[in-house]
Amino acid sequence: MSLKGKNIAIGVCGGIAAYKIASLVRLLIKENANVQVLMTPDAKEFITPLTLATLSKRPVLSDYINRHTETWNNHVDLGLNADLLLIAPATANTLSKMAHGACDNLLLATYLSAKCPVMFAPAMDLDMWLHPSTQENIKRLQSFGNILIAPGSGELASGLIGEGRLAEPEEIKQQIQKFFNGALPLAGKRALVSAGPTYEAIDPVRFIGNHSSGKMGYAIAAALQSLGATVTLVSGPTALPTPLHVVRHDVTSAQEMLEACSAYSEASDIIVMSAAVADYTPAAPANQKIKKKEGSLEITLKKTTDILATLGERKTARQTLVGFALETENEMLNAKDKLKRKNLDYIVLNSMQDQGAGFGGDTNKVTLIDRSGKVERLALKSKAAVAHDIAAVIAAHQTIINA
Ligand code: CTP
Repeated sequence: MSLKGKNIAIGVCGGIAAYKIASLVRLLIKENANVQVLMTPDAKEFITPLTLATLSKRPVLSDYINRHTETWNNHVDLGLNADLLLIAPATANTLSKMAHGACDNLLLATYLSAKCPVMFAPAMDLDMWLHPSTQENIKRLQSFGNILIAPGSGELASGLIGEGRLAEPEEIKQQIQKFFNGALPLAGKRALVSAGPTYEAIDPVRFIGNHSSGKMGYAIAAALQSLGATVTLVSGPTALPTPLHVVRHDVTSAQEMLEACSAYSEASDIIVMSAAVADYTPAAPANQKIKKKEGSLEITLKKTTDILATLGERKTARQTLVGFALETENEMLNAKDKLKRKNLDYIVLNSMQDQGAGFGGDTNKVTLIDRSGKVERLALKSKAAVAHDIAAVIAAHQTIINA
């Protein structure tokens, strides 16, 4: 798709990956976009304004005052004229400033006054990327409606290997084209995502629960939404904010989750069951608080309905059904068996062995298995990045089954 006539402002920050912006500017100019480059003072240490000015065919802006003409570079006009503002590479420092409204350079002033959509493509070292403050800032920026272009994985400037590499120029260009095209891969699709734990009442004040934080499921809901799907999130008790533009239905028990998921499932093209649903529930919860007595207390538990298996039985040819597995032994065998037994298209195997994976944290390490038995082991990533990978696989599956 041509970008003819589109005004794209690119805010370049000070990071090694700034060199990739030269290629990006060239690609956008080739698509006939009007490109205005803005640079932070630090960015000029990494790539010269002359290079970017030559490629974009117009002067690069970095200061409030143009010293040659003694005129004012008006950040409000810059933000008003742009159809899109892209911050790339977005360094940890600039992300933090954007997330908190700091405004100590022209790029940040333009961001704060921009009326157009904003995309940001982070690039930084692995440890900086994984730091909770960076992850918080990214979530905060997404909650303001800014669009994340997730970094890739690979060798970083420091020599470390992992996440944090600026997305490739071609990929950024494609995301910009998709954005202007409105052609998000899951546009028009409905998705149902379950997340969080369930609480099974023992009496009016006590329950049996588990350590699920809901973070993975919430991230998947956000990722599917960002690909254009209309998402309903059926959530057990969590402390998480609802992702932007996602409809949330709160439940407490496995039975309530079953009822909510059953109600939404028929109209859903995509179903992702990431909730940690209780397998057992007290057979006869007490109406009054149980008083302590001498000796031990026995609570009889009965099985809950397996929601995922129930939805697997009802699965239609146009649906993509994804389940999760948390195994402590014979991981692969058990996960593959679960995939077949519950009639799933994909199962996401959570690792209990690896550091940085599992409950509560902001990172995860998972293995994706499909119906044919194909196994894809993903690297340790932020839960947001894992969610984007899973959403991309789902989008590809939807394209195939609806072809
Ligand atoms: N699940 C569900 N309803 C239940 C239990 C689990 O929908 N009552 C879903 C979870 O959301 C998850 C998958 O099933 O997607 C996880 O299954 P898991 O509980 O790990 O396995 P089980 O089938 O219960 O087998 P086991 O307890 O032997 O591990």
